[in-house]
Amino acid sequence: TDAHTTGPFIAAIDQGTTSSRCIVFDTDGRIVSVDQKEHEQIFPKPGWVEHNAAEIWTNVQEVVDSAIAKAGITSADVKAIGITNQRETTVLWDKNTGEPVHNALVWQDTRTDALCKELGRNVGQDRFRRETGLPLASYFAGPKIRWLLDNVEGLRERAERGEILFGTMDSWVIWNLTGGVDGGHHVTDVTNASRTMLMNLHTLDWDEKILQSMDVPAAVLPEIRSSAEVYGTAKSGALAGVPVASALGDQQAALFGQTCFAEGEAKSTYGTGTFMLMNTGHEPVNSYNGLLTTVGYRIGDQPPVYALEGSIAVTGSLVQWMRDQMGLISTAAEIETLALSVEDNGGAYFVPAFSGLFAPYWRDDARGVIAGLTRYVTKAHIARAVLEATAWQTREISDAMTKDSGVELTALKVDGGMTSNNLLMQTLSDFLDAPVVRPMVAETTCLGAAYAAGLAVGYWPDTDALRANWRRAAEWTPRMDADQRDREYKSWLKAVERTMGWLE
Ligand code: G3P
Repeated sequence: TDAHTTGPFIAAIDQGTTSSRCIVFDTDGRIVSVDQKEHEQIFPKPGWVEHNAAEIWTNVQEVVDSAIAKAGITSADVKAIGITNQRETTVLWDKNTGEPVHNALVWQDTRTDALCKELGRNVGQDRFRRETGLPLASYFAGPKIRWLLDNVEGLRERAERGEILFGTMDSWVIWNLTGGVDGGHHVTDVTNASRTMLMNLHTLDWDEKILQSMDVPAAVLPEIRSSAEVYGTAKSGALAGVPVASALGDQQAALFGQTCFAEGEAKSTYGTGTFMLMNTGHEPVNSYNGLLTTVGYRIGDQPPVYALEGSIAVTGSLVQWMRDQMGLISTAAEIETLALSVEDNGGAYFVPAFSGLFAPYWRDDARGVIAGLTRYVTKAHIARAVLEATAWQTREISDAMTKDSGVELTALKVDGGMTSNNLLMQTLSDFLDAPVVRPMVAETTCLGAAYAAGLAVGYWPDTDALRANWRRAAEWTPRMDADQRDREYKSWLKAVERTMGWLE
């Protein structure tokens, strides 16, 4: 066996938007084994996105068992389990049967747009921003809970009687993993709770006034804990008996995995969507430029660390859409080959406002457009426009970050599946006019969850030990002429204009 396969180890579970995975790490933060399984994406109506939470829990159990088997180890070799997850996705379940009462409403789902508008009537989109750091938008969990309570027959009464539990996917996984109907722990962590629009960023507790305005009974809510502490012990499967010792939303986990422990350090993760987070230290920083204020992480009873976040709803999922719904490519990797077959975008700009527009606009009423079409444009130009969309959206977020924080971007740490696309990484560096760097372990989301769990059980002594594991694997530097960049950025912004107000 390899030198690095001598234990003990940490196992991380990442319950993501398109798949669930389990990765086993060693003390150097190296990957020992991985297993992954996709789940169904359910699109009942335009703008609606659902997941089957029961299917997800089955998949989580499978990937855990198989990652442990692949590593050739047993639960005795694993010191702790870390949990990370797609954020905001909302499930309500029956506490006595463990059955979800409805499909989970996914973060991309826009069905609560009218509700959000109603909640903001006369007061505006920033009604709860001071308390929660978030604008009223269909993205967040609170309005999704309210929608379920209003639309599933008899659910509100059951919830008020204390029979129903709410969770984002961290809570759902931890409750099931720690025993489910037989004493499962109903908890969440500060990072996930900060995406519900129900938690007060300053007290780190549920906000009574917002619960009332949103009409959500406190009885359904989990207990809010730190991101790194032991919540309970796994009760079944290959990891039975191992402490469950961390939970972080996937983007916060990636911030942690990239070891952005100092104020001003930032990362951007390229997955289904793209999320740039900057560590802003122990105080929440208000955004005046369309970013979110969120909790970055909290280790045990240490003071919390806050972050500014720029969220982009559609990046990797646009490539999937090109593959699955349009059939223009047959594998995600082909998008790069196709895009490389032409010199440029042929004048086409693709703004994938499939879930409205997130940062910095927060427009639930936006819908996607392809602008600048002429008879000249081929599918290869569209492929190019697809990749450029991700890079331009990052540029917009990065501009907002600079305005809010006063910190100029000197280099961007990236991770996530799309970072294997070289053309995209080069384009990103060109549009940002800054170097883009990728670490050795691109699975920073799982790594961050593992790091937090390992800290909680003393597997790693402190964050300095984690920093020592970060190694640069690749770097891209800008090659684009400034005039051209400015010209194209203007065209991009013009295309963005065209998406807005579509639903009005
Ligand atoms: O806020 C949504 C985000 O957590 C989803 O991340 O990587 O599953 O697309 P991902």
